[in-house]
Amino acid sequence: MSKTLIAYGTRFGATAKSSEVIAEVLKEKFNHEVDVINLKEQKESLDLSVYDIIIVGSSIAKFSWTKQAKKFLNSDFTGKKLFVFISSAGITYPALEKGNMEKYEKWKRRFLDRVVKKNANVKPSSTAVFGGWIKRNGQMKISNWKEEDAVNWAEEIGKSIS
Ligand SMILES: Cc1cc2nc3c(=O)[nH]c(=O)nc-3n(C[C@H](O)[C@H](O)[C@H](O)COP(=O)(O)O)c2cc1C
Repeated sequence: MSKTLIAYGTRFGATAKSSEVIAEVLKEKFNHEVDVINLKEQKESLDLSVYDIIIVGSSIAKFSWTKQAKKFLNSDFTGKKLFVFISSAGITYPALEKGNMEKYEKWKRRFLDRVVKKNANVKPSSTAVFGGWIKRNGQMKISNWKEEDAVNWAEEIGKSIS
């Protein structure tokens, strides 16, 4: 049986929520063993040898990944299946929602494809862009996180490896 690690970096919680949804789908529908790790809380280095599938998620804010998620991308993923997603609620996901594919591709390249190409030693089998939320003074300014996006991508992952 495959063992899966979901390792994420979040600032405001959306990437954590997507990670939990993906883990649930892989466990419930595909019978995977899944560990979910918030990289900010992980102080010791992770033993990746026990995992065959690695899913990395990062929050995008101020045009950047979280420090911990970006650092984790430098791990040795040789021989593993890698999947990568970002939560980009302000720019990339709204472009996708509006069907502005030129803008979507441009920012996906900048926030996701280029970061992965520069930092990971293994090409991801699949990548995804999710929404998230922005709160200001306790008020929700943007909320475009959708559970179904995480569910659909998790099902795609589950099917591709079972
Ligand atoms: C200060 C700040 C800066 C942000 N910068 C960006 C950005 O550069 N690009 C983007 O697509 N979204 C941006 N966002 C929206 C985030 O993608 C959104 O808050 C998302 O939920 C972040 O993931 P997280 O909740 O896991 O931290 C920003 C949000 C805040 C509050």
